[in-house]
Formats: sequence, C-alpha cells, structure tokens
Amino acid sequence: MVSRIIPVDNFDLVVFGATGDLAMRKIFPALYHRFIAQQMPADARIIGVARSDVSEENFRKLVQENLQKFCPQSVKQHDNLQDFLNNIQYISIDVHGDKGWALLQKAMRADDDTDNNIVQAFYLSVNPSLFGIIASKLKQHHIAHKQSRIIIEKPFGTDAASAKALNAALRTSFSEQQIYRIDHYLGKETVQNLMVLRFANALWEPLWNSTHIDHVQITVAENIGVQGRGEYYDKSGAMRDMVQNHLMQLLCLTAMEPPSRFHPDAVRNEKVKVIESLEPVAQTDIVRGQYLASNINGDADGSYHQHVNNPDSMTESYIAMKVNIGNWRWAGTPFYLRTGKKLRSRCSEIAIIFREPPHMIFPKSSHQRANSLIIRLQPNEKIDLHTMAKEAGLGGMRLTEAVLNMNFQDTINNQLDVQDAYERLIMDVIRGSQTLFMRDDEVEAAWEWIDPIIDGWHKANHRPLPYEAGSAGPDDALMLMHRDGRRWQEIEP
Ligand code: BG6
Repeated sequence: MVSRIIPVDNFDLVVFGATGDLAMRKIFPALYHRFIAQQMPADARIIGVARSDVSEENFRKLVQENLQKFCPQSVKQHDNLQDFLNNIQYISIDVHGDKGWALLQKAMRADDDTDNNIVQAFYLSVNPSLFGIIASKLKQHHIAHKQSRIIIEKPFGTDAASAKALNAALRTSFSEQQIYRIDHYLGKETVQNLMVLRFANALWEPLWNSTHIDHVQITVAENIGVQGRGEYYDKSGAMRDMVQNHLMQLLCLTAMEPPSRFHPDAVRNEKVKVIESLEPVAQTDIVRGQYLASNINGDADGSYHQHVNNPDSMTESYIAMKVNIGNWRWAGTPFYLRTGKKLRSRCSEIAIIFREPPHMIFPKSSHQRANSLIIRLQPNEKIDLHTMAKEAGLGGMRLTEAVLNMNFQDTINNQLDVQDAYERLIMDVIRGSQTLFMRDDEVEAAWEWIDPIIDGWHKANHRPLPYEAGSAGPDDALMLMHRDGRRWQEIEP
C-alpha cells in the first residue's frame, strides 16, 4: 500500500484557544505532522489566538515544548521544527473585548476581494459558550469573509434546544457550507474503512439487512477514567459525551443506505435518515453505571464520585442500550450500544452478528456459532469474519470456528504511518470537503432522539448502578442481552 500525499492550498489557520489543552495535544501536533509530510505549503500560516499576554517568541517556545512532549519521535526524526515554528504567529485577544481584532485582521493574508487562493479557516478550540461571540466578532471586524471556514468541536449544545440556538447563532455570521463540526471518530482511518467495506464491495450489501443480520453490537470501551475532566464530564455523562456523537456516527455509518455518491450532502442525508428512524428507547432497555474505586495490581484509583468530586452525582460513566431502527432494512434487528470509562480494556468495535443457518444438517455442537463480522476500530485495527469450518481429521463431522482475518494494523500502521484523526480533518477543512463533518440537522436530530431519554432519568431520579473498575460494566448490562438470548462480545484489547 502506498501513501499518497495530495498537497492542499495555501492557508491562514487561526486557532482560538491556542494555549489550551486541545490545541497543544492535538491541533499543533496534527499540523506539524502534515508539515513534515509536506502536505501543507511551506509558508502556510498558523495564527494562535488566546487571552494570555505572551510574546510570539514565548508562544512558539510553548508550542515547541508541547510538540516535544506529544510527538517526541517526529521531532527527533526531523530537523525542520524551526521552519514549522517560524510560520506561527500569536495574537492576544480577549474575545469579549474589542482589542486585538484589528491586529488579527491585518495578519490575515486571505481576503474576499483578491483571488489569492489562500484559504482562511478559524478553529474555535474554546469553550462552546464562546462559539457565537467569536463568530460574530469575526464578522463585525471584517476578518471573516464568505469563503472563510469555521471549525468547532463538541459539545454542540447539551440538548436539542441549545444545539438549535448554537446553530442559529453561528448562522448569523457563517453559512452552513462554511461550518465544519468535528466528530473526531469520523477522521479515524478505520471508521472511513467502514464506508469502503460497505460501499466498495458488492459482497456484503445483499446480506446487510434484517433478513440476514440478527443484531449489531457497537462498543466503545475505555480503560481510562474521567481524567481531570470531572467538571465537564459530570454535566455530560456517557450519553452526551459519547452516544450523542461518536456512537451515533458509528451507528449511522453501519445502518445507512448507500449514498448515491461520496459527496458531503449525499452522505449526510443518508445519516440523518437513520437518526430520524430511531425508535424511542424504553428505560427498561437502558443500563447506566458509575465506576467504583479500584485497586488493580496495587494500582489504587478513586471512584467516579471521587474523580468528579461530587458524592451525590447521578451522572453515568457507563451506558448500554438496545436501539431499534424503524425502517425496512432494520426492523427486527436491534442495535446494542455500549460505552463506558474504566472498563476492562480500550476496545472500539462494531460486531455484525448474522442469523443462524435456517436448517442444520450436522449434529448439534457446542462449538457452533452464528457467523459474525467484527470490525475492530481501535486498537489493533482489523476485520474478522467468524465462520464455521470442519475440524480437521478423521472421526466424524465436527465443527469448529475459523476466523478469516483482515489485519490492517500492519498495512495501515507501518506503511501509512497512521495519521491522527485531526490531521485528516484539518486538511479536509482546507480542501473544503465537508463529508466527514456533521451537519446542523444531523446534530439536532441526534439530540431530539436523546432528550426524552435524559428527561426520563431526571423525572425518575434515576441512579446509575455501581460497577467494578476493570470489568465489563454493570451486571445488568449482561441481562440486557441475556433476556434476548444474546450475549455481548468480550471486551478485549
Ligand atoms: C471524546 C470524549 O470525545 O472522545 C472522551 O469526550 C473520550 O471522554 C474520547 O475519552 C475517546 O476518544 P478516542 O479517540 O480515544 O476513542
């Protein structure tokens, strides 16, 4: 497999919140990697904006230190870090005030009237409460123009009403074609491969429906806890933090109809149709949990309550649910979703469990399993097709499971030097490709489906069940499957 780098146009990228955690951990490393790969022009400009009154020199030093921390190998293996840093500028702006905007306007090369082909993008790596104000200031100070792009990251509201208000606020300054809503799961190599698996192979499509598929399991398990993000997380919980966005995207890509072409609106139209077909979920089809304090191999760690510093918290760090999609393709094939923190291991996968053969001609065997297609997203990216085979040797017809393995780990990781999702997504913004970004109606539809579920918890004063850290979640989640005569896939690294 050969990696092909398609260079992007020259750009001015303004990063608001440039001294923050996301910028240092993800955005600057992503840009540096694309710089090393020579995908971005050598003189593409990055303008950091934050409230802190630091000099440009000190800001570059800060970026340098963080690159050394977050991508030490890349820094060691290349000698062009200084060239990258030379393209970084810094401007201090308190976004509530009017100081600094004129400087930013002057620093931008791109302008509406000249056809200089310099793409202008604004990455708002700030608290979502600031999205609206920054968007309007960019307009008010004549910095953004009708070709500019604005990049924002979740949470896009906390319910349908706030998501609609946010979208409306952004739309007063930017059109929908200018807005790039990041869901970093869509930038993952394996998530994109899911679309290729489904739509570039004729093999699966005839089987991809409720006639042949018994059920689907989507798991995004993490072994980490809330990791210093307790204040944010406790207001969100697994439902808002993971299900509304990442798991919803995985469900859409698995369940959607084939789009007519790989075009932003064609793909997003099909995703919205899936979300709009989701049936309301009964509370009896949901299990919520909170992790307990742990001491795994002498490594002691606090409970969810301790991590979020709220002993009365009723927010879930785990959720499992059975979801029905009310359309012709999927009626009768439930999708089971689960995600949680402090689980046995980090493991994200989509398991397609096919139906049993209609009639078995061989003697009944405990080894017999329905076929399954396991799409492992991370870690150890691969696709496994579990089939039945004859156990080798004489002495009768004994069946055994044989796994056909398509292992992408070597091909992707070694040869393509796997890119972080942010690398692909930022380059897509510069290219003007919105396919991997969420559209306003998609976000709103997801909230509309989720809101009644969360309201139900509040009305019932619903308390999540405790679960052991390092486990597969609360036992009741097992029951969610057992009562349907099914079982979860193992959570394994
Ligand atoms: C983020 C969530 O969007 O995704 C985090 O806010 C979560 O809580 C993270 O840990 C998981 O992302 P990944 O790429 O590590 O699977």
